[in-house]
Amino acid sequence: MDSGLESVVAAETVLSDVDGGAGRLIIRGVPVEALAVTCSFEGALRHLWTGWFEALPDAAGLAQALGTARLMAHDLLWPQLPSDPVLALRQGWARLGDTEALDCALMLAGAAPVFVAAAVRAGQGLAPLRPDPGLSHAADTLRLMRGAPADAADVRALDAYLVTVCDHGLNASTFAARVVASTRAGLGSAVLAGVSALKGPLHGGAPGPVLDMLDAIGSLDRAEAWIEAALARKDRLMGFGHRVYRVRDPRADALKAAVRTLPGTLGRIAFAEGIESQVLARLAARYPDRRLETNVEFYTAVLLEALGIPRSAFTGVFAMGRVLGWIAHAREQIAEGRLVRPRSIYVGPPA
Ligand code: ACO
Repeated sequence: MDSGLESVVAAETVLSDVDGGAGRLIIRGVPVEALAVTCSFEGALRHLWTGWFEALPDAAGLAQALGTARLMAHDLLWPQLPSDPVLALRQGWARLGDTEALDCALMLAGAAPVFVAAAVRAGQGLAPLRPDPGLSHAADTLRLMRGAPADAADVRALDAYLVTVCDHGLNASTFAARVVASTRAGLGSAVLAGVSALKGPLHGGAPGPVLDMLDAIGSLDRAEAWIEAALARKDRLMGFGHRVYRVRDPRADALKAAVRTLPGTLGRIAFAEGIESQVLARLAARYPDRRLETNVEFYTAVLLEALGIPRSAFTGVFAMGRVLGWIAHAREQIAEGRLVRPRSIYVGPPA
């Protein structure tokens, strides 16, 4: 019995390789650091989805399909979605189709920012904006959330984020998506399973609380006492530790590099680095036999904050990137053709 399944290999995948000992993430043959600086969201989609659908559209056709998906999603915003972005994403995705075909996949990936942005604006008492199908996916995402066009540096940084988190082996949400796909329920059901697993604070729900932690600490001279008190309460420090990585999560540095490209962020980065090094020192002292390092969520929080995205939307924005991986894994599982059905050991009362 292995309750966390860490020693269980449940799939063969060509999509991504997480080497937790070396701190390396390869996404279909390309190191994540390279993919983050060379690819847009659209490029990552092609990178992950090629081969899983009969024919992907060319670059222009893909941009058009995603733009059309955003417009169609806008028409599905009534009745109004909740102002919690993850709930809005779940309700919005549940209004779409549920087949295993490319048009359903493109609709799911394309619609996500419309639902997340509508929720953000509803929380601010504002009506949703109409998507602009002529913009890139990242550019329109920022415009829909902020209500104003984004500059090129911000669009590049959001693309770098979405690409960095697009896939990561058999993490909890991807496993959930594959289990559902294995029942042949459809891609809509698979991404709903994925986002429901992602929402938890031990998985994709961590970056909002990372900022709460930075705010609560407030200044570097208060960090040590704050961290000690949190560890004494047995609180988990958000943005640290990982089930697979025994060294630093390579995505942390890819994202830190993306934040650095944004003007006016050096002070915030320096503060975050100061907190990070104190947390790592305290965790090393407390768990000398278990290396706990910075994970993807720590600099996710700093990056999305710098982009002006409200912290309530961080998990929804994570899902906008990870949906590419969920769909590719769902198609890989369907091609595998095997229902996922593990066993349990009965430890209840005898008959
Ligand atoms: N802060 C404080 N203590 C921690 C942390 C942390 N961030 N992470 C692990 N620990 C402790 C555990 O409580 C455990 O202590 P114990 O032996 O006294 O019970 C010990 O370190 C060993 O824990 P692990 O077995 O390494 O933890 P596990 O693999 O079960 O959990 C997880 C991994 C869930 C990511 C954990 O490190 C955690 O809760 N981190 C904080 C939340 C977070 O950042 N989540 C995002 C992960 S990345 C992602 O999913 C996209």
